[in-house]
Amino acid sequence: MSKIIPVSYESKPCYKIVLEQDFEQLMEYVKELGYRSSQKICIVTDSNLEALHLQELKSIFDSYFEKVISFSFSAGEESKNLDTVQKLYEELIIHHFDRQDILVAFGGGVVGDLTGFTAATYLRGIDFIQIPTSLLSQVDSSIGGKTGVDFSQYKNMVGAFYQPRLVYMNLSLLQTLPKEQFISGMGEILKHGLIKSKAYFEWMKSNYEAIMSLEPEAVEEMVYQSCLIKRNVVENDPKEKGERALLNFGHTLGHAIEKLSDFSLFHGQCVGIGMAAAAYLSKELGHISENEYMEILDVFKHFGLPVSVSGLLAQDILEVSKSDKKMVAGKIKFILLEAVGCAYINPNLTDGQLMSAIESVLK
Ligand SMILES: NC(=O)c1ccc[n+]([C@@H]2O[C@H](COP(=O)([O-])OP(=O)(O)OC[C@H]3O[C@@H](n4cnc5c(N)ncnc54)[C@H](O)[C@@H]3O)[C@@H](O)[C@H]2O)c1
Ligand SMILES: [Zn+2]
Repeated sequence: MSKIIPVSYESKPCYKIVLEQDFEQLMEYVKELGYRSSQKICIVTDSNLEALHLQELKSIFDSYFEKVISFSFSAGEESKNLDTVQKLYEELIIHHFDRQDILVAFGGGVVGDLTGFTAATYLRGIDFIQIPTSLLSQVDSSIGGKTGVDFSQYKNMVGAFYQPRLVYMNLSLLQTLPKEQFISGMGEILKHGLIKSKAYFEWMKSNYEAIMSLEPEAVEEMVYQSCLIKRNVVENDPKEKGERALLNFGHTLGHAIEKLSDFSLFHGQCVGIGMAAAAYLSKELGHISENEYMEILDVFKHFGLPVSVSGLLAQDILEVSKSDKKMVAGKIKFILLEAVGCAYINPNLTDGQLMSAIESVLK
């Protein structure tokens, strides 16, 4: 069943995304990169993956590499900071890791972002391989080379664009992913359909049962289609100068809601609410019909994503959205739907329009 997606960076072939149902092919792809068995491997992971799956992965690397170590930190966004990076640097130094050696990010987006950043900066850059294990990291964070950590209260404030040598997914690991994390990942996946492919959005609607019951073929097809969309966008715009901003659909208000709710809601849930608001404005501007708008909300609800939030003030959401680092000359670059499956950047919305969108999702 396996699927491969080649990714280019600045028009040159760069790395492969490999979708598999197990780890059987992993070493084939790793060896293809020309690594020698004397190169050292450090598997970076979090406490949940360590307990569930690290042993299996380590024994696979042990079968070829002479020295394989692991570094694990407490699961969660709270660990995605420079303190953890520093501990990882120390571990690498103690074990004499040099420029030839390799980091493996084994976990969700937190592990991927932190490991990528460490790889980008340790000895001015060493190789790293992504083995994303959460749905969100498989379809989103492991592709596109954005790495980084949070700094004080600022999310992703310190980072680098740095490409992995390989992204290998064992989709069967999704079996142990908590349901709410799966649903959070669905937020990004539905986003991919809405911004780039109506056919894909429709496909998800008709494959709801198979997706939610984790049928391997349906999940593989879904992750594959999402990775293709993300790959195409980041290849066209690797440093987020234009088209890549479309991936922020639902995120401008979503991030504000995430912050104001003190991260008590999952990222995908906040993005769902943000997308519902953006869909409302797309309808108000006459781009999509009332029916299409209602259907988008229904699909979100069906997949378990909220389309409204309580306990927040519209004015606060607007203020926090405006303080987001992705503004241009004081204007929010808001992403709207031209049609279902086609997004565009609208930099000219008034505060009044934004407030009406926000109010549409307040309970
Ligand atoms: N670099 C990018 O382009 C990019 C894009 C989107 C998000 N991100 C970042 O990604 C992070 C969010 O990623 P995430 O949602 O994967 O969060 P996460 O890494 O915290 O993983 C979510 C939870 O699921 C657990 N988990 C992961 N895979 C599992 C599995 N197979 N079985 C059991 N438990 C499993 C983790 O231990 C964790 O508790 C954020 O820090 C965000 O900023 C980065
Ligand atoms: Zn997101």
